[in-house]
Amino acid sequence: MSIPKNQPPKAGRRTSHYFDPTPAAASKPRSVFLHLPGLDLELQADRGVFGSRGIDIGTLSLLREAPAPPSAGDILDLGSGYGPIALALAKQAPEARVWAVDVNERALELTRVNARTAGTANVTACLPDEVPAGTRFAAIYSNPPVRVGKAPLHELLLRWLPRLEPGACAYLVVQRNLGSDSLAAWLATQGYEVKRIKSKKGYRILEVSPRTAS
Ligand SMILES: C[S@@+](CC[C@H](N)C(=O)[O-])C[C@H]1O[C@@H](n2cnc3c(N)ncnc32)[C@H](O)[C@@H]1O
Repeated sequence: MSIPKNQPPKAGRRTSHYFDPTPAAASKPRSVFLHLPGLDLELQADRGVFGSRGIDIGTLSLLREAPAPPSAGDILDLGSGYGPIALALAKQAPEARVWAVDVNERALELTRVNARTAGTANVTACLPDEVPAGTRFAAIYSNPPVRVGKAPLHELLLRWLPRLEPGACAYLVVQRNLGSDSLAAWLATQGYEVKRIKSKKGYRILEVSPRTAS
């Protein structure tokens, strides 16, 4: 069944989603491959987790087009799935601590397994509430869960974007036909400066930072 664009599921219907805390789909792990300049990783994916058939094109665009992560500090992968973004960041910035945050327990366990296999000791995969309240981020990278619906997505972004360190940016990849431009416009109404740093294959890469008084 297809889900209407950027809409939460209708009440009363029970379908499974990649953002379910405990996926209903029986586990069937498979390998997927992440190829970036200077980085080749084999990752374990699974049913009930986003991108289980292969690395998402939006995720690849984000990793290819967004600026490299800061070399140190705390970095957030918001909605980490099985960890392609978190692991790429952790490899690129081995001195940084990468927080891979998700609500899907299967995704978090896969991220832990993938981090061990990749030999990255600087990834912490955890539920949102497990990130210490005082942690501030030197950067946030995210292929956000647009399909949770507009209000939950806005709530999610307003939970984490205020935790950027002064001068830090978030990089979001959002499909144009899933509302990237309206999301950018909404972020601007919330006090954020939004730059479209790349538009490619139907995806926009947005750089988001708190607007500073000039
Ligand atoms: C579009 S997927 C991206 C997954 C992964 N980063 C990738 O690029 O393959 C978005 C992820 O956000 C997660 N998610 C949904 N709601 C969330 C929430 N409230 N807090 C954190 N993550 C959430 C979903 O479970 C899903 O894994």
